[in-house]
Amino acid sequence: MTADATAPFLPGATLGMVGGGQLGRMFALEARRMGYQVVVLDPGEDTPAAQFCDRHVRAPFEDLDACLELARLSDVVTLEWENADVATLREMERIVPVRPGPAVLEVAQHRVKEKDAARRLGVLTAEYRAVGTRQELDEALREIGAPAILKTARMGYDGKGQAVIRGAGDVDEAWNAVSAMGSEFILEAMVSFRMEVSVICARSATGETACFPVAENEHRGGILHLTRCPARVSDEIAAEAMRVATALAEGLGVVGLLAVEMFVDADGRILVNEIAPRPHNSGHHTIEACGVSQFEQQLRAVCGLPLGSPALLRPAAMVNLMGEDAGTGLGRAGVADALRVPETSLHLYGKGAARPGRKMGHLTSLAGDVDEAAARVLRGWEAATRHG
Ligand SMILES: Nc1ncnc2c1ncn2[C@@H]1O[C@H](COP(=O)(O)OP(=O)(O)O)[C@@H](O)[C@H]1O
Ligand SMILES: [Mg+2]
Repeated sequence: MTADATAPFLPGATLGMVGGGQLGRMFALEARRMGYQVVVLDPGEDTPAAQFCDRHVRAPFEDLDACLELARLSDVVTLEWENADVATLREMERIVPVRPGPAVLEVAQHRVKEKDAARRLGVLTAEYRAVGTRQELDEALREIGAPAILKTARMGYDGKGQAVIRGAGDVDEAWNAVSAMGSEFILEAMVSFRMEVSVICARSATGETACFPVAENEHRGGILHLTRCPARVSDEIAAEAMRVATALAEGLGVVGLLAVEMFVDADGRILVNEIAPRPHNSGHHTIEACGVSQFEQQLRAVCGLPLGSPALLRPAAMVNLMGEDAGTGLGRAGVADALRVPETSLHLYGKGAARPGRKMGHLTSLAGDVDEAAARVLRGWEAATRHG
């Protein structure tokens, strides 16, 4: 470790990445382009990130020895997977800077802590209650009212570990479904939102911050389907979304990226839904559309380098290619048709098996305005996912 804590990690340094999925892959691609070495920790064989890294420590995230090995091999450690064990990260921190650090992860791993932190920082959220037992669920539902959503406090992603409660008749079923998946829960009021948006805020080791422009997100079955950037909101709402993301990144002391998912409600208010201290699916368009990609920005932030320009150079839209839609995308004639759509780029993550709900890749289209970008990317998506 360098003696001067403010000295940047320059090209030639080794970056440790906790998690070997597509986010780690796109990070590794940028890191290697910029002359860094990358070591990935992931239990999988031939994971998306391992295909592009210099070294793969293949072990479960719970394996303390493997985590310490990653720390020893690295000059700085970052992550694409926010559920790493906090106590283990604290051990790693004794060897190497871990960015973002364990204190941020502790909050981001827990939906109740996340919302408590947002409120403490003066940021709005849906009404919520921490729930541990069936009796507490009944009480919380009486206070919040239906419709509401019961979620596991930890480990939920892509809509997993959630059940909607529309009335008292749904409580048994919701409790049975969700209580099997954890021991701590949150009941949230259902927000009748006008739109879902997200902002990715970078905060460098030097304290410099920069937000990517607000993205507008459409989900299908709890999984992100389509992102448009810029979001179709007023300048005031966009400025407020960026202010909220910056307040959270600064308030939590993030070094790296903080992706903030938010609802815009009927009154144009911004309510924070959840945060992720890492690159985000709703920021993939930044690769083609912005002055710097979210992955390069993560690298710059954790290495203590000047942040790049997050400015949107051209309106963009991104659509996910899911296992059920496009399979691996390999050898499909439809992919060639998708690439016939102007200003459209294909990303495949190198995952072997296509399963329903698995993110296999994405398409990004650019255009003169965001509606045309969305029309283009959906044309590409229809072509790429056409069967037969
Ligand atoms: N309180 C809520 N009100 C309305 N919709 C919600 C609420 N919570 C979640 N959702 C919907 O479910 C999606 C997934 O929930 P989220 O909390 O983001 O969990 P995940 O970790 O699975 O992404 C959200 O993007 C949103 O569409
Ligand atoms: Mg979410």
